[in-house]
Amino acid sequence: MSNPLRLGVAGLGTVGAGVLSLLNEQQHLLRQRCGRALQVTAVSSRDRTKNRGVDLSSSITWHDDARALASADNVDVVVELIGGAEGIAKQVVEGALDAGKHVVTANKALLALHGSALAARAEKADRALCYEAAVCGGIPVIKAIREGLAANRFERVYGILNGTCNYILTKMEDTGADFQDVLSEAQALGYAEADPSFDVDGIDTAHKLSILASLAYGTHVDFSAVYIEGIRHIAAIDIQFAREFGYRIKLLGLARRTTHGIEQRVHPCMAPLGSPIAEVGGVTNAVVAVGNYAGQSVFEGPGAGAGPTASAVIADIVDIARNQILPPFSAPSSQLERAPVSPMELHEGAYYVRLAVLDQPGVMAGITAIMAQHGISIDSIIQRARAPGAGVPVVLITHDTQEARMNRVLAQLAALKQVIEAPVRIRIEKL
Ligand code: HSE
Repeated sequence: MSNPLRLGVAGLGTVGAGVLSLLNEQQHLLRQRCGRALQVTAVSSRDRTKNRGVDLSSSITWHDDARALASADNVDVVVELIGGAEGIAKQVVEGALDAGKHVVTANKALLALHGSALAARAEKADRALCYEAAVCGGIPVIKAIREGLAANRFERVYGILNGTCNYILTKMEDTGADFQDVLSEAQALGYAEADPSFDVDGIDTAHKLSILASLAYGTHVDFSAVYIEGIRHIAAIDIQFAREFGYRIKLLGLARRTTHGIEQRVHPCMAPLGSPIAEVGGVTNAVVAVGNYAGQSVFEGPGAGAGPTASAVIADIVDIARNQILPPFSAPSSQLERAPVSPMELHEGAYYVRLAVLDQPGVMAGITAIMAQHGISIDSIIQRARAPGAGVPVVLITHDTQEARMNRVLAQLAALKQVIEAPVRIRIEKL
């Protein structure tokens, strides 16, 4: 049997502790599957005294500075679980590759912002850079797209990539409560971060989407090209109207190649009821990949948590132990394409628009006149209640049109004196 593969784990938060527990509990199974033992030889974390419920015995070297762990002689693989796109995490990954170590990371922000440069660095060093845990936790979606579906061109790849947002939207639907109330409750229960902005403003989804888009389209990771909207503006009333029209609101990340380039967008979507993605509730994540030979594949599972994320981290370690070392993305970095960005203004689709208007004569005529003036055809229109002098909701569903046209219409609608709140626009997806 070969020598043990020696692991240095940088970061002992929830995921780091989960990795150590899994390695301990599954050691015999992993030794059999790898043909060699997986042995933790070094760890690093800020607080040495904290009880993490795992045995950090004297045979494990403790480093106060993770950068020292990254180049330690008794480490073959550096497992970076610190997080963050810059600072220590980046220095640890770069230092490890430069010191000839393989790297396994769960750091989606790092990959989204520096993925291409790090991939080139790993290839130059002839070392692995693995990141299965960075996208959708326990779902093996990186391997699925990069390896299992390698023979396909992708019509599109999309999914629910953030469990916090999906939990909030599901809870809003189940309880009829508004965004802020559900968020506060989720924070109290520990389901949402004290600063929830990365999750609810769509940034976490965009990090993950930029990685999936690179894998699917053979392009450099391009986080700056992602159009991003979060879920803060979604009201309970939108969720009710969505249902009436046959949809469920989901925060999706969507990527596809258009005639203009690669389109990457993150925003709340009207997903048709009955489509696989509309049925995914709670913190669960799901990715749909539509390949030109494989057809539609749906991957669903837990996107976060110690166990699922540790499972993905260790799958990468197992690959390294088996000497299965691939370029980090779907092609060697010298072969990745620098594709143009398909601008959001050219996006085509149908729209849900909700206006809060004063219930007065001629308001509807004014709204429909603006739509007609811009050549947008209305599929359905509802005014829900009668309340002379007060604000009432008017909801329009359009036929397919162009985003730029819709932007002009929304600006004009917002300027009408009978429209008393900023219009809400939610894109309708054919899924
Ligand atoms: N914050 C993420 C989510 C989990 O809510 O899905 C880690 O990527």
